[in-house]
Amino acid sequence: MNTHPAIASQNVAVITGAASGIGLAAAKKFASAGMRICMADINASELEKAKSEVVALTSSGEADVLTVPVDVSDFPSVEKLKNQVIDSFGQVNVLMNNAGTALRARTWQDHGRWQTLLNVNLWGAINGVQAFTEDMIAQGKPACIINTGSKQGITCPPGNTAYNVSKAGIKALTEGLQHDLRNTEDCQVSAHLLVPGFTYTGMVSAHMPKKPDAAWLPEQLVDYMVDRLGDGDFYIICPDNDVTEEIDSKRILWGAGDIANKRPALSRWHPDYQQAFADFMKE
Ligand SMILES: NC(=O)c1ccc[n+]([C@@H]2O[C@H](COP(=O)([O-])OP(=O)(O)OC[C@H]3O[C@@H](n4cnc5c(N)ncnc54)[C@H](O)[C@@H]3O)[C@@H](O)[C@H]2O)c1
Repeated sequence: MNTHPAIASQNVAVITGAASGIGLAAAKKFASAGMRICMADINASELEKAKSEVVALTSSGEADVLTVPVDVSDFPSVEKLKNQVIDSFGQVNVLMNNAGTALRARTWQDHGRWQTLLNVNLWGAINGVQAFTEDMIAQGKPACIINTGSKQGITCPPGNTAYNVSKAGIKALTEGLQHDLRNTEDCQVSAHLLVPGFTYTGMVSAHMPKKPDAAWLPEQLVDYMVDRLGDGDFYIICPDNDVTEEIDSKRILWGAGDIANKRPALSRWHPDYQQAFADFMKE
């Protein structure tokens, strides 16, 4: 099995949203690989609880784990995070811009919720990229930036347009970042778009006390992510127990087909196209 060269013993991983779910599972996975970990989250008390789980997996205990309470939507606080991790560990090899909220906002109402959602989900990742990338390139060592998007940012299902917008923005941000990195001389930093399937994390358990059969555990998702990073994949589109890679590919192709075939927006959910979509999925 290949491993991304940034994931190596004594290298440093910075993870936002690390107090829970996917971020915490990633912190544990990277700690098990011998990395030093910086866990950042807005929830300081949950962060401290999560820290002990990660410390238990490191080679040097407490010295290998830094926790930083941070609001990713606030650029000065993300710059401070970068300075703290460089002061403590001297480098950053993996940056995972993962913090997110599933706040709901109606399409033409809830202006304040739209702002909060975009500030956290989209500006959080932009702030991470802005604060860290220059230093990561200058290190001259293998490194990667993983931004957590969503299938909702690709196929844009109706229900929470604000969330879709935030995650579609992350997709565009990460694609542009990877293009610019690969066209930067002597740059050893790569960018990757992590697209979770249905994963049983804090934002899901808040509404569903029992794990639905369809959902993956965050540990499964992180194992899948690390394998895909090892293969050098940019798009890491994760399946779950209901949705296979093939189903995802077809749904993505159908969505792109709306534009190419001049169908109505989001035709997958348009009654006139229900049969055509079902037939396409069966092909
Ligand atoms: N769980 C899923 O099915 C799923 C699917 C697609 C995408 N995602 C994305 O995965 C990422 C991780 O979410 P999760 O599912 O692990 O949920 P989670 O709720 O378990 O974890 C999210 C973490 O982000 C933190 N956070 C929220 N706002 C923050 C802020 N302003 N600054 C710093 N930290 C903040 C929370 O405190 C929490 O610890 C999110 O970006 C989410 O949108 C999740």
